[in-house]
Amino acid sequence: MSGQKATKLRLGVNIDHVATIRNARGGDHPDPVRAAHAAAAAGADGITAHLREDRRHIRDEDIDKLMNEIGLPLNLEMAATAEMLEIALRHKPHACCIVPERREEVTTEGGLDAAGQHNHLAPYVAKLRDAGIRVSLFINSDMRQLEAAHSLGAPVVELHTGAYCDAVDAARRDEELARLTNAAREGAEQGLEIHAGHGLTFDNVSPIAALPQVAELNIGHFLIGEAIFGGLDSTIKRMRALMDKARAEASGKRIA
Ligand code: PXP
Repeated sequence: MSGQKATKLRLGVNIDHVATIRNARGGDHPDPVRAAHAAAAAGADGITAHLREDRRHIRDEDIDKLMNEIGLPLNLEMAATAEMLEIALRHKPHACCIVPERREEVTTEGGLDAAGQHNHLAPYVAKLRDAGIRVSLFINSDMRQLEAAHSLGAPVVELHTGAYCDAVDAARRDEELARLTNAAREGAEQGLEIHAGHGLTFDNVSPIAALPQVAELNIGHFLIGEAIFGGLDSTIKRMRALMDKARAEASGKRIA
């Protein structure tokens, strides 16, 4: 592809929707921290959790426990608000991914407008970085947003794969994949570490995993939903195997 050496692709397992199910009954079960332990045992490289302003799934005490009890790096997804910054600086997770957040949305529906919100985001990126936290910005595959991330000093961008995953026909999907491919290449050339996520499933993960610049995928909803049928352990292992196969094939090392 770009001639760049392929690296091992990391899998961050997003456990938000274990908390969604728990919260539906208001009790303690199923416990997202137990899911994080299971994800670690199944080969996840990191745990991702989004502490939303409305606490609709992950709660503050989940973050306390994930920080204290899980051996894997925690990637805290957060909106750029004073409250979330205070929580992040108190916990100092391995990573923070800054995402746009609107109360009425069902999920993170689009990327962050890093270009339009440059001045708002600058102190958040700086304070998180100064605390030794790896900062990433969740953006669409758009050159303006990549340039803004670079100029803000964020070391990582996570490319929003939602439009690619939601594409209803092959032509549209190819168009979105081309956009992601160009953004991954361009971002890496600017020195950004490239992550990707949103809407990834067994059926659509391979072309994204094959992009040589992509270092990490963060996957949640599908893994938790599919675990109802196959169990969390085998679902995560199958996703991991698909990612590794796609990456190996793309770099010419076919797995027998
Ligand atoms: N990455 C980011 C930044 C997200 O906000 C989300 C959704 O919370 C994901 C990845 C995971 O998306 P999904 O749950 O669709 O796999």
